[in-house]
Amino acid sequence: PLIPVVLSGGSGSRLWPLSRSLRPKQFLGVTEDASLFQLTLQRLQGITADVMRPIVVANNDHRFLVGEQCREAGIEPLSILLEPVARNTAPAITVAALASQEGGDDPVLLVLPSDHTFANVPAFHHAVRVGLQAAEAGALVTFGIVPTHAETGYGYVKAAQALNANAAVPVAQFVEKPNLATAQAYLQEGSYTWNSGMFMFKASVFLQELAQHNPAMLAACEAAWRLGSKDLEFVRLDKEAFAQSPSDSVDYAVMEKTAKAVVVPLDAGWSDVGAWSAVWQVLPQDDQGNATRGDVLLEGVTNSYVHADNRLVALIGVDGLVVVETSDAVLVTHKDKAQDVKKVVDRLKAQK
Ligand code: GDD
Ligand code: MG
Repeated sequence: PLIPVVLSGGSGSRLWPLSRSLRPKQFLGVTEDASLFQLTLQRLQGITADVMRPIVVANNDHRFLVGEQCREAGIEPLSILLEPVARNTAPAITVAALASQEGGDDPVLLVLPSDHTFANVPAFHHAVRVGLQAAEAGALVTFGIVPTHAETGYGYVKAAQALNANAAVPVAQFVEKPNLATAQAYLQEGSYTWNSGMFMFKASVFLQELAQHNPAMLAACEAAWRLGSKDLEFVRLDKEAFAQSPSDSVDYAVMEKTAKAVVVPLDAGWSDVGAWSAVWQVLPQDDQGNATRGDVLLEGVTNSYVHADNRLVALIGVDGLVVVETSDAVLVTHKDKAQDVKKVVDRLKAQK
């Protein structure tokens, strides 16, 4: 069987002021009315013949949001694992792998971030079906996106052979978030793809790799799972044990180190809706290159994203801006500076 594992414990701070710590971006309708998290769940329908209900791994602070949004989307997760503290993606995947083996099975896990969008869902399904065979045979599957620029916010996957849309090929090298010069060299070189952040592997294969590369993390997660308390579909991981786990992303903890990685190309209009500039990019634009949500009036405006939650927002004669209006905060920035929203959020946090 195939069990999707949906990771929804991130903070999404670059989409402030819409994204807040109590309602981070994955739980918001950024591009559509349904939230990114709900779209992630719905996108799984019919992905393979034997796909099971998903396991969701989320922060304990968001348990009500997760429960409510699953119900609203008509999806009943197999379980919802609640993290008492954030320890990044590797421990989150580890507890999901342990939970997935409960019934004595060793399922293939499809690990999915909850904040991505796809223009072409059938192409996403195709890539997963291609990867499934490799995962069943014991590989750790990555999904590679053809890069368009030297992005430093992504991992890079170098294929050992020419990419093939109908077969997984071995990975020669996995490099998480290289610096700009390295990313530029990779772009030039041509055989690197972006890591989409989705992975597929048998639960046992992932756990074996972790045992080899990070035994302390495995031990802490095993204890957190074993000592956790169950309440219907919710599993509260043991706080003391989970806090003992090193905090690390799966990219650094396993993917950079394993010799079992393979890559399947993914050409599905994928976007990591990381910052407002990416939201602008995935939304339909008018012929002046503007995308808007809510009550917005534009006069002589080009290439801008304007989001009005509560009030009419009017812009005149500007180019390339992002304006986001909410009930208690307004953001105005240039699209090229959209990554720096995180700096404002960090300053706000420091003031508290
Ligand atoms: N449950 C849980 N717990 N989920 C988490 C946690 C956590 O502590 N931290 C992050 N997540 C979730 C996020 O909500 C998101 O859905 C997913 O895990 C990935 O985390 P990000 O923080 O968004 O990772 P990233 O974007 O910096 O990097 C990853 O994705 C890139 C593509 O978008 C890496 O895999 C890169 O290699 C990749 O290129
Ligand atoms: Mg991300």
